[in-house]
Amino acid sequence: MKDHYENPGLLITDQNLAGEVVWRSPSNIAFIKYWGKYGHQLPKNASLSMSLTESFTETSLQFKFTKGEPKWQFYFENQENPVFANRIWKYFSGLSAIYPYLHQLDITIDTKNSFPHSTGIASSASAFSALALCLVDMEKQIFQPQLSDFDFFTKASYLARMGSGSAARSVFGGYSIWGAAKSVSELTENKYAIAFTNEIHPVFQQLNDAILIVDRGVKSVSSSAGHSLMDQHPYADDRMNQASKNLSAVVLAIKDGHIQEFIRILENEALSLHALMMSGNPWFILMKPQTLQILERIKEFRQNTGYFIGFTLDAGPNVHVVYGNENELEIVQFIEKELKPLCFNHQIIYDKIGVGPKKIK
Ligand code: PMV
Repeated sequence: MKDHYENPGLLITDQNLAGEVVWRSPSNIAFIKYWGKYGHQLPKNASLSMSLTESFTETSLQFKFTKGEPKWQFYFENQENPVFANRIWKYFSGLSAIYPYLHQLDITIDTKNSFPHSTGIASSASAFSALALCLVDMEKQIFQPQLSDFDFFTKASYLARMGSGSAARSVFGGYSIWGAAKSVSELTENKYAIAFTNEIHPVFQQLNDAILIVDRGVKSVSSSAGHSLMDQHPYADDRMNQASKNLSAVVLAIKDGHIQEFIRILENEALSLHALMMSGNPWFILMKPQTLQILERIKEFRQNTGYFIGFTLDAGPNVHVVYGNENELEIVQFIEKELKPLCFNHQIIYDKIGVGPKKIK
């Protein structure tokens, strides 16, 4: 299996070439957090996530052969968006060794999210995975009609990673692992994610994620700045050991159906991520007072009921409430009554484990 996809000199010869591909790809929520990177978007530790259903990006990529200066256009929710466009064109320039023929194409990208942009939900995982799937599909149409599904999604993961690390995991449904963790699976790699489908215990086959929007403000630390904190972090080595232990343990918990162990690791990962930010140089506190209140209430509710409910956080104040299907009704009632009043504009996105990306056209 090729582990890189450079293809210098690959050029389009069909001057009538034109087409369109459309993909929908989900966001994902990491249970074991990727935090810290090196080289070209390679992870300092392996991560594991669950792909979602309701939170997704849908992207259309139209392409047409051109002999002249190529025209690249980008629309986000039907409007031009220079900030997003610049990020995409920069991403395209970084792909020149893999896609040397991009400059032979006029390209129009139209993209939209299922969730409001103002919620502070990170959309880079769904956005870059949808775009990567479009790129691989376009290439398949132009050059490789026989590409196997495995190769297709592995390449999409590889390309998605180059846009945003966490996007590598979104090209698969269910759970996926990104980053070399050979003790977990020989197939794991830093350059792309793999689907983690083996022996999932029934309690983990249906998992819910209520995303509580605590604050929708502009991120106070960019993802890249956050990752770079790990370059000089005094706890960097300990973090790598912790992530590696937590990954092995969570994989076992998911296989064996150990809910308490799963929740212990889930919350340990979330709070460790924030502790690393607080102890970084410079430091960041990304939780809000309501975030802390929500975490306390979840813990108390779990202690009182014994239900399968826990939380995780990304690099921001919003809380992902993760819970099983058993007692779903009671848990949703608790969320509505106790947690919703603490959310910004009472905003909650009820999401759940998903089947992965979908080709729309
Ligand atoms: O993909 P990035 O560079 O936006 O990093 C995502 C980092 C976390 O969301 C905090 C953790 C993760 O693994 O998704």
